[in-house]
Amino acid sequence: MPVSAFPASALSSATTGNPPPAAASLVSPQLAQHVQEGLSRPFKTLSSMYFYDDEGSRLFQQIMALPEYYPTRTEFALLTRHQVAIGEALRPHDPAEHFFLLELGAGDGLKTKILLRQLLDTAARFTYVPVDISQAALDGLTASLQAELPNLQVEPVVADYADALRLMAARPGRKAVLFLGSNIGNFFPDDRLRFLRDLVQPLTSDDRLLVGFDLQKDPRRIRAAYDDSQGVTAAFNFNLLHRLNRELGADFDLTHWQHYTDYDPLSGAVRSFLVSTQAQTVQFAALNWAVEFAAWEMIHTENSYKFTPSGIAETARQAGLAVQQLFTDDQRFFADALLRPMDLA
Ligand code: AVJ
Repeated sequence: MPVSAFPASALSSATTGNPPPAAASLVSPQLAQHVQEGLSRPFKTLSSMYFYDDEGSRLFQQIMALPEYYPTRTEFALLTRHQVAIGEALRPHDPAEHFFLLELGAGDGLKTKILLRQLLDTAARFTYVPVDISQAALDGLTASLQAELPNLQVEPVVADYADALRLMAARPGRKAVLFLGSNIGNFFPDDRLRFLRDLVQPLTSDDRLLVGFDLQKDPRRIRAAYDDSQGVTAAFNFNLLHRLNRELGADFDLTHWQHYTDYDPLSGAVRSFLVSTQAQTVQFAALNWAVEFAAWEMIHTENSYKFTPSGIAETARQAGLAVQQLFTDDQRFFADALLRPMDLA
């Protein structure tokens, strides 16, 4: 039952204690359906894809600067260290041949600029195609690229990743696809495989993929990266509840929730939860709906899988890819895997 408009009853801030939504605000039917489905399961769940509203994106920028959060700065260092080899592996052997450098979820492009500069400095002929579902994110990135790298050809595509790849496959020329930052770690194993197979499907054996994987290491260091001492990761997790209060007229009282994270070395998964510290009922005014939470019941909000080099090779193989090279930093904290589609012959 998709809900498209905010009912008048939700406009009374006296009943919910939340500020009333903007008059023109519409409830996203996708979010509404997702939340109802996820919070109706025996073990309640919300998808990490809803972390990234404006406030969530700002908090994630703060996470990347935390002393405990090693992945971003480690991948930055490894791209800096291996930029020559990675540049050579991504581009066609013939230096005159034009290619497309696609990036799925480019963010602020800080890491990508290392590779873009390297390719421009070595006179590679290419078009950079950042792909994102957010027009605003792509506008910001394109503006900063035009200012910093005026010689770069940029063709942003606002689309879902698989759609963008199918679209680009129709254009002649080799493709090199970047999926950096260990975003692959957010998928459950089955979804990860499906995602990679969808990516590979429109590619040919001349194309290349560079995928970021966070590696297994001291379990305490991994856990600390998702439970920092300043509480920024907790605020990032809580922002999901703020978002539901704002967008679905929910009345989550944040004083009765905690952030909890654990790392399971057997599966390689960091799992994040929101914990209800008492029995409580949460109303969703925009959905005419309520959910009950028992004391210490949890909402699972995110998986961040950590990998081994052999695990990466096995995942790649199952998706029809081969690891051509595995680039790592000197502590072996993080890996960027250069993958190529296997010949079907
Ligand atoms: C953006 C998915 C790579 O899983 O490490 C950071 C998100 N969550 N801290 C990650 C995140 C909590 C991040 N990724």
